[in-house]
Amino acid sequence: MRSVLTRAAGGIGQLFVGTSPRPVIQENEVLIRTCAAGLNRLDIMQREGKYPVPAGASTIMGVEVSGIIEESKYPHFKAGDRVMSLLSGGGYAEYVSCRGELCLPIPSNLSFHQAASIPEAWLTAYQLLNLIGDFKNGESVLIHAAGSGVGLALIQLCKCWGAKHIIATSRSESKLITCKEYGATNVVNTKDYPEFSSEVLTATDGRGVDLVLDCVGGNYLDENVKSCVFEARYVLYAIMAGAKANINLARVVQKQVKLITTRLRSRPLQYRSDLVSKFSELLPYFEDGSFKLLIDSVYGMDDVQEAHKRMESNENTGKIILEISKE
Ligand SMILES: NC(=O)c1ccc[n+]([C@@H]2O[C@H](COP(=O)([O-])OP(=O)(O)OC[C@H]3O[C@@H](n4cnc5c(N)ncnc54)[C@H](OP(=O)(O)O)[C@@H]3O)[C@@H](O)[C@H]2O)c1
Repeated sequence: MRSVLTRAAGGIGQLFVGTSPRPVIQENEVLIRTCAAGLNRLDIMQREGKYPVPAGASTIMGVEVSGIIEESKYPHFKAGDRVMSLLSGGGYAEYVSCRGELCLPIPSNLSFHQAASIPEAWLTAYQLLNLIGDFKNGESVLIHAAGSGVGLALIQLCKCWGAKHIIATSRSESKLITCKEYGATNVVNTKDYPEFSSEVLTATDGRGVDLVLDCVGGNYLDENVKSCVFEARYVLYAIMAGAKANINLARVVQKQVKLITTRLRSRPLQYRSDLVSKFSELLPYFEDGSFKLLIDSVYGMDDVQEAHKRMESNENTGKIILEISKE
């Protein structure tokens, strides 16, 4: 089968379309003929050799796809079903195998491109808010890099679940406009306001936020803690601005801020399948248009280098999609 492969760890020039063996499915697995794959930051890190592939997972990139079931050894799906799936890897290929429990039926109104934008971004957002961040109705939330695939999902879930203040940040004015359209109550451009805690405190009438959702890390840490209420939860789920931080720990202790981290890809199957099962209750919100999906751009498989280049440029708002095959 055709698949995107890498010559060696490194830049986009290492990516090429080659061939690899078609997966053979085991009990409780399905074989999906891939229509589209969503791009994720961890694909870039994996390409660069900075993200170890979980044991037993395909070494081919791609952690979310949409497509049509070709063969099923899982009782709840059959050949011909339209599904979207969370993967441990293998999505940048014409066929991918995965556990049936990690597949969801595609709502009838969604295209394969739209469906491929859901699993990793929305399951991450659901997990961050519900299972990790313990979000409660009426709380105020600070969401960084909010124009990202995960960020726009977070905003919409917060709005749906009754957040009081949804404060979205980005370094781009146009992304902040989108964040407002998707439900952010307040926006802050962190390029203009590197000391953004003052903006957060103003937006929350001096109180601060109950929950911080941060994929940036680095120099955002201290400002995040300043933005927190007493006993706030601070979920750090990536470190795009780097691993080193200059932080006043006295403030962390005084405020008793709970710092929590998580990585969905390395969670056990049971955790991920429970997550998929809980998230499936929200599928009607995609069907009735309450949840919106923003596709930034679609690239053919042969243009995978361009797709990675766009993500590296940080210019995308919402999801970048790799079209693997036509329906
Ligand atoms: N822990 C997990 O389980 C998990 C799962 C999935 C994704 N993630 C993480 O979630 C984040 C969003 O993922 P995605 O695929 O939706 O990403 P994405 O659409 O590519 O968005 C990432 C955004 O982060 C911002 N950014 C990048 N470098 C930055 C820097 N140095 N300082 C400040 N902001 C920076 C940029 O937005 P602006 O232009 O707005 O600044 C960029 O567009 C990624 O960090 C990813 O690794 C974590």
